[in-house]
Amino acid sequence: EGVREMRIDYVYKVVVIGDSAVGKSQLLSRFAKNEFSFDSKSTIGVEFQTRTVTIKSKVIKAQIWDTAGQERYRAVTSAYYRGALGAVVVYDITKRQTFDHVARWVDELRAHADSSIVIMLIGNKADLAEHHRAVPTEHAVEFAQDQGLFFSEASALSGDNVEAAFFRVLEEIY
Ligand code: GTP
Ligand code: MG
Repeated sequence: EGVREMRIDYVYKVVVIGDSAVGKSQLLSRFAKNEFSFDSKSTIGVEFQTRTVTIKSKVIKAQIWDTAGQERYRAVTSAYYRGALGAVVVYDITKRQTFDHVARWVDELRAHADSSIVIMLIGNKADLAEHHRAVPTEHAVEFAQDQGLFFSEASALSGDNVEAAFFRVLEEIY
């Protein structure tokens, strides 16, 4: 950077969705700023963060949108999905209900986003797997295969697989 302007080849909009408190905002902070916070506040409306990465020598600005999992705080649905090339659907591996709701989030995506959108399912909070796991990895793998989604478990807290999952989405868009 410095005095030179950074050349951007592409801007990719990616949306993050899933139930409240699954860790959407923290996954995004981990990817965009390598930060994590335990006292994360519920998102209200829409926020977005960007990170510029290089994929196959192209400079790609990932513009990642984050909204509330809670219905009453959510962004206007059609505007949120408009122009999105990628989507990350998040559940919490320690909360069965958040996985049971993934199908609804995917339905909403299919209804509002472009049919060619790249979708990544993330089972977050993998750092808690040993004592608190409520969703077996195989169930999620099976669901993802059925629905044609990419899948990874990850942890915003430890950072495990966060970078890899977001990069996978960006590479698949490219
Ligand atoms: P809404 O904005 O309400 O939709 O929630 P959200 O999905 O954005 O959740 P958020 O990122 O705010 O995280 C909710 C809580 O989970 C916070 O207390 C985080 O610190 C915690 N959390 C997020 N990611 C992880 C993780 O990977 N591991 C653990 N142990 N806790 C996490
Ligand atoms: Mg949030």
